[in-house]
Amino acid sequence: MKTSIRNPPQALAAALAILSRGELVAFPTETVYGLGADAGSERAVRRVYQVKARPPDDPLIVHVCDALQAREYAGDFPAAAVILAERFWPGPLTLVLRRGARISPAVSAGLDTVAIRAPSHPVARELLSRFGRPLAAPSANRFGHTSPTTAQHVLAELAGFIPLIIDGGPCGIGVESTVLDLCDDGARILRPGAVTPEMIADTLRRAGLAAKVTMADRHAGDQIGGWKSPGMMVRHYAPQTPAYRFAAAQGPRVRRWLARQPADFHMALLCFPDCPVLDQRERRIILPPEASACARRLYAALRQADELACSAILVQLPENTDGLWTAILDRITRAAPELPP
Ligand code: TXA
Ligand code: MG
Repeated sequence: MKTSIRNPPQALAAALAILSRGELVAFPTETVYGLGADAGSERAVRRVYQVKARPPDDPLIVHVCDALQAREYAGDFPAAAVILAERFWPGPLTLVLRRGARISPAVSAGLDTVAIRAPSHPVARELLSRFGRPLAAPSANRFGHTSPTTAQHVLAELAGFIPLIIDGGPCGIGVESTVLDLCDDGARILRPGAVTPEMIADTLRRAGLAAKVTMADRHAGDQIGGWKSPGMMVRHYAPQTPAYRFAAAQGPRVRRWLARQPADFHMALLCFPDCPVLDQRERRIILPPEASACARRLYAALRQADELACSAILVQLPENTDGLWTAILDRITRAAPELPP
């Protein structure tokens, strides 16, 4: 199958025809590119799993125009969902709610819940409003790989597997949406993103709702049978080259590790501007020291490092852990295990 990259608005008519036939279209969102399928078509949804090589028990996010459409597909829409959708939709917040009867069980991987969000990217909005029905859309990458933030990244992942990629330019946020579980009592963040726990708690508090927002245990994803959100699996968003993370304070560990490497070893170093030179054989890719710029750049930088075909990639962890840095830290931690001592 030939995969074409086309610009909006011309690409939209073609995209609608393809989606209506039960085939897949990659489209831009403000977070990362999505691999869209008619959420009402069992066949289209199955094709998503097949194309991504995604395990059948890892549920997809359903994309809608707005809260009104979300209400038609969720089993219930609790007060917290109403308030949060009003404040953060369209935008990078996914709500996990009870699954309604109109959502194919395949989308939810058999769970009785469904993850729903209304994206804010104008191309995604136009596509959803003209399609008139929700689109199931995971990130448009092969399972476990780095999420795509440009149309060219999608092509690198899925060329030959899908007919069309709509090119909406680079994604503005660059890391996936915050996933918030509202099914049990309270609000629990399953995946950190641009909508932070503070923003959620603050919004709920102002509305007079209980404002306790908890973070799911990030290792819970590894407990067989007990996992709530498979995207929490520890190894995820990973480049192909062996990649390791390190903190600024771990200079001695990095130097010990480098000393053990063979003579032909050369590394790609993803680091912040103040990182000292660690090795003569490093190829340096700088991550911006400001959180939103860093999030926007992170996945492209990981891909760039991968393309250098080095022996290994070393990624520096940010020192700051608040706000959007939590999501950046989470993605680096999943993309790259800790450097061995
Ligand atoms: O920003 C985003 O959310 C992007 C764009 C394309 O919208 N999408 C995305 O989808 O990141 P995906 O499939 O790569 O990640 C979906 C995450 C996974 O961690 C999945 O396990 C979780 O959402 N999820 C989906 N349905 C769920 C459910 N019913 N309960 C708990 N977690 C769920
Ligand atoms: Mg993904």
